Amino acid sequence: MDRRQYTPSSARNRGPILQALRERLPAPGTFLEIASGSGEHAVHFAPHLADHKWQASNHEQDQLDSVYGWLAHSPAPNLLPPLKLDATAPLWPVELPDYAAPPVTGVFNANMIHIAPWPVCQGMMAGAGRVLVDRGRLFLYGPYKVGGIHTAETNAEFDLWLKSKNPDFAIRDQDDVIHEAATHGLVHLEAYPMPANNFLQIFEKRA
Ligand SMILES: C[S@@+](CC[C@H](N)C(=O)[O-])C[C@H]1O[C@@H](n2cnc3c(N)ncnc32)[C@H](O)[C@@H]1O
Repeated sequence: MDRRQYTPSSARNRGPILQALRERLPAPGTFLEIASGSGEHAVHFAPHLADHKWQASNHEQDQLDSVYGWLAHSPAPNLLPPLKLDATAPLWPVELPDYAAPPVTGVFNANMIHIAPWPVCQGMMAGAGRVLVDRGRLFLYGPYKVGGIHTAETNAEFDLWLKSKNPDFAIRDQDDVIHEAATHGLVHLEAYPMPANNFLQIFEKRA
């Protein structure tokens, strides 16, 4: 049975994200992807990141099943089997002593923090602060408010739609995200503008 899911936005944004990632790579090691969704980012990125392993993860089994489906369809030697990982967990599986692919030098997450309650962003920042090596990098892709203001009318409409689904969902203000990151030793390097009114927010762990 083919368990692959398809996310149209992944097909649109994967090229620009990969290009931005490749210009800002952390040291060789493992990239941990939080909330891998369908798995399309994982299978697109990994073959282009030969010095890194790609560790997909998700907290939902049907999403993990899709990642397994994509890995079976598009295998690459540096694609690791996905992990069940809830960003809010106080201990992530990559922190266990028997984790097979340390060190984690990169954490990547796309399109999660606006479509999850704020504690999920807080949990991810805490986890990234724990698992990243010194000078490891965290990359967050998605829409952000800047100075409390939406960067496009379409983002304002998307924000209203998110809140109609769940009042705890929202496009986050980048200053709030930067502040949360700083409490976990993650220094903000750059808010890199991406197509369709998104940003790649880049942080570096400083021990
Ligand atoms: C809009 S999808 C984005 C998926 C993928 N990253 C992408 O860009 O296509 C949001 C993802 O966040 C995941 N998610 C929500 N809360 C989470 C949590 N607490 N821990 C891990 N993943 C979570 C969902 O399972 C879903 O895969």
